Amino acid sequence: MSLNYLAKGLSGRAAVNGEVRVPGDKSISHRAIMFGSLADGVTEVSGFLNGEDCLSTQRAFEAMGVEVETLSATALSVHGVGIDGLKQPSAALNLGNSGTSMRLMSGLLAGQSFDSVLTGDASLSNRPMRRVTDPLSTMGAEIGTTESGTAPLHVKGARRLQGISYDSPVASAQVKSSILLAGLYAEGKTVVTEPGLSRDHTERMLQGFGYEVEARPQYAALSGGGRLTAANINVPADISSAAFMLVAASISPGSDLTLHNVGMNPTRTGVVDILRLMGADIQAHNERIEGGEPVADLQVRYSGLKGIHVPEELVPLAIDEFPVLFVAASFAEGDTVVSGAEELRVKESDRIQVMADGLQAMGIDAQPQEDGMIIRGQSQKVPAEAVAIDAQHDHRIAMSFVVASLASQCDVTVQGCETVNTSFPGFFPLMSRLGAELSER
Ligand code: S3P
Repeated sequence: MSLNYLAKGLSGRAAVNGEVRVPGDKSISHRAIMFGSLADGVTEVSGFLNGEDCLSTQRAFEAMGVEVETLSATALSVHGVGIDGLKQPSAALNLGNSGTSMRLMSGLLAGQSFDSVLTGDASLSNRPMRRVTDPLSTMGAEIGTTESGTAPLHVKGARRLQGISYDSPVASAQVKSSILLAGLYAEGKTVVTEPGLSRDHTERMLQGFGYEVEARPQYAALSGGGRLTAANINVPADISSAAFMLVAASISPGSDLTLHNVGMNPTRTGVVDILRLMGADIQAHNERIEGGEPVADLQVRYSGLKGIHVPEELVPLAIDEFPVLFVAASFAEGDTVVSGAEELRVKESDRIQVMADGLQAMGIDAQPQEDGMIIRGQSQKVPAEAVAIDAQHDHRIAMSFVVASLASQCDVTVQGCETVNTSFPGFFPLMSRLGAELSER
């Protein structure tokens, strides 16, 4: 089952040129299925990410009686069943690798009239769920977890939920969204405040479906008892997927790459800000608003990067991009220090440890810290043999080491690349087209 690739170390010889459109935004695609399912009417979705994570969400809603017509690889019609129209699934809902599906759906399912069970793969079954089940239980939900607070989740239906005011200890869109989705079914007002900015796609899309949401930085609130009206959703390209290309071009001399239609929601653009602070040459062209989300074409040209101290306020705005930002830091001049990023330890893998292990295996001086990493750029001491790196079921780790091969002096075998399909179908052929030398092992 494990998919492995040997990526040849190219020492910066492959310029990354051309024009590409990376697949649709994962966060927005999940929400398009969820809110489309709960809406009255038919929601047309284009630019949908048909990666495994979003397909897990799609299958879960189909199992609850929602008809989803697949019009093309990236276009869907979701036939909404209305806010109270979901049906009890006949079996547990298996959400694969997808934390977003599990966390958002636990809130949504807490408001249904039926019981349900949520399961996931080895990685998802290790991820902390109390961050959602605790606040949901103060709303009146009953959700059983394992003793260590992980999936499978047993969600009891037919509970009376009460709106709460929740001061979240983490800046997490998954936590915020889970509570807001339970809030749709709760009596009174549900308020979530956060210690930092988290992505606001839930607030924007609920508003797009005609639901009243009060939203401002670090604050979101809604009242239960309303309805959603179907809307058309144009999903922009995922900035988290574009990040791999931004780094690939920034570390490969001679590169000039344009990425079309990239989502530029200000709660997601930390990666662009951080790379620019490192000296990256990234220009946004044709900036526009599409379906309530800012979008632009990004042109990235090679420029020698330098190490920086990453400002902590940018961390939540780039939280998914740190694996590849660590790669950028490895080939930059000088030290890069990342702190305030302890959330990385509970993503699809422990992204601090797994990235540090892999970079060290490649001969790079990368020192893991409890809440971040210190990387001495251009410190690579080339190992005598090709290096094998285990991506630990984590799509973004696998893709990061493929990007690293462009600038690395050593060959890298990346083991466990099958999860790349969760967020970036077509990544390997695209990287080959852009100059990476990849062979399946
Ligand atoms: C997501 C929120 C983020 C992110 C994840 C997708 C979302 O997680 O890492 O890939 O769609 O809400 P947290 O909210 O836990 O930071």
